[in-house]
Amino acid sequence: MKFFVFFTLCVVGAIASPLTADEANLVQSSWKQVSHNEVEILAAVFAAYPDIQAKFPQFAGKDLAAVKDTAAFATHATRIVSFLSEVIALSGNASNAAAVQSLVSKLGDDHKARGVSAAQFVEFRTALVAYLENHVSWGANVAAAWNKALDNTFAIVSARL
Ligand code: HEM
Ligand SMILES: *[C@@H]1O[C@H](CO)[C@@H](O)[C@H](O)[C@H]1NC(C)=O
Repeated sequence: MKFFVFFTLCVVGAIASPLTADEANLVQSSWKQVSHNEVEILAAVFAAYPDIQAKFPQFAGKDLAAVKDTAAFATHATRIVSFLSEVIALSGNASNAAAVQSLVSKLGDDHKARGVSAAQFVEFRTALVAYLENHVSWGANVAAAWNKALDNTFAIVSARL
């Protein structure tokens, strides 16, 4: 019972730990350095985790190099990156907490319906962070801000999957 209360507090604490204005600025300014590279970001995710590519009916079983330059690929890449841009733009402002909660919950519900697992979202996160490390000005403070942002988002998503 004590453990359960402790556990519950930790989980709720993780969700309710909003980014400070400084942390939000670090995430927003680093994201701006790469958010125009939609196709490259999605291609990096698919290259690292082919099981994610395999969930997309249009891209399953196809060579990444062959689909990467298609319009369908650009459309999907832009959807995913735009979603991240929308959530990132709302971060660091307590008045936006409910909007973030509802956007991200819907993302979780939509992906559960497609059979996407929490483990695949963790793979996505790993690939995204690896991409960021190599393409933005990275450092301990930037890493910590992104980790906090992603912890908050993934707590909401995984509760839905
Ligand atoms: C982690 C593994 C993921 C898999 C396997 C996956 C798979 C899919 C699939 C199959 C679709 C439907 C594509 C179609 O219309 O044919 C889709 C749509 C979409 N995904 Fe994902 N996705 C993943 C992660 C994400 C993440 C992390 C985001 C955002 C940050 C995201 C954002 C979207 C959006 C915005 C759409 C289009 C809107 C919608 O139909 O919900 N996805 N995804
Ligand atoms: C915070 O968000 C609210 C509601 O979206 C908005 O009215 C306000 O201007 C924002 N504050 C800052 C500092 O961006």
